[in-house]
Amino acid sequence: MLVAGAHGGLGQAASLACARAGARLVLLGRRIPKLNRLLDAIEREAGEALLYPLDLEGAGPDDYAELARRVESGFGRLDGLLHCAADFGGLTPLEHTDPAAFARAIHVDLTARWWLTQACLPLLRRAADGAVVFVVDDADATGQAYWGGYGIAQSGLHAMVRMLHAELASSPVRVCGLQPGPMRTPLLARAYVERERAAACEPERYAGACVTLLSAAGSARRGEVWRPGPDACGIDLPIVAER
Ligand SMILES: NC(=O)c1ccc[n+]([C@@H]2O[C@H](COP(=O)([O-])OP(=O)(O)OC[C@H]3O[C@@H](n4cnc5c(N)ncnc54)[C@H](OP(=O)(O)O)[C@@H]3O)[C@@H](O)[C@H]2O)c1
Repeated sequence: MLVAGAHGGLGQAASLACARAGARLVLLGRRIPKLNRLLDAIEREAGEALLYPLDLEGAGPDDYAELARRVESGFGRLDGLLHCAADFGGLTPLEHTDPAAFARAIHVDLTARWWLTQACLPLLRRAADGAVVFVVDDADATGQAYWGGYGIAQSGLHAMVRMLHAELASSPVRVCGLQPGPMRTPLLARAYVERERAAACEPERYAGACVTLLSAAGSARRGEVWRPGPDACGIDLPIVAER
């Protein structure tokens, strides 16, 4: 199981929940100390994980090909890919957005997710039931004023889920989206939407939904963008395709 954005709010909660469910993990993140702390937490619970430090902003197709080669030599296949990495610099009018910040958000939130997925598809096809899960935000809400490149990328991600699902419909690889509600993470803290922040919950409450989508139970959500409430499912579901 590969988790991108593994040391973020949801990425961390989902990684721990996947490890508890028996998955062997590859943890992709850009900050080595945070990855090490997550690895310690996983190992304290007798889970297994490998660290893969990578900055999605600078990584190109060759870097993803190298990542896929390493996953192949370590595991031979990939059962699931969970996209939790996201770049959001804060609410700003488009007119005043720094051009580099706009490009970074589109790149990290949309292009890098696709490049990573594309490189991993051959390994996902080798799994009995490979799953690609894109964690997405509400495209209507983030398509309103001031959400900038992050908001525009969300519309692209919803389209990517539909398109890739249609293209892989007859393959063993299933694609879906997970749209959580507001969670208390660094990303939400940058949005300054007071109403949402008051209603936000801890990201751990959506970790079970990530495990569900990555496990065999997720096949019921193939092609969907699932919008569960917090605690929609237990976090002890075994990831049956693993081991
Ligand atoms: N929080 C919410 O209310 C909410 C609501 C709906 C949907 N979502 C979605 O949930 C997902 C997870 O978000 P979150 O709330 O957990 O946010 P978060 O805590 O800010 O986590 C985002 C992660 O992405 C990483 N990242 C950013 N740029 C990167 C880069 N260039 N290379 C590698 N990693 C990079 C961050 O690394 P650093 O720690 O180094 O910054 C962080 O680990 C996202 O897809 C988001 O759209 C969140």
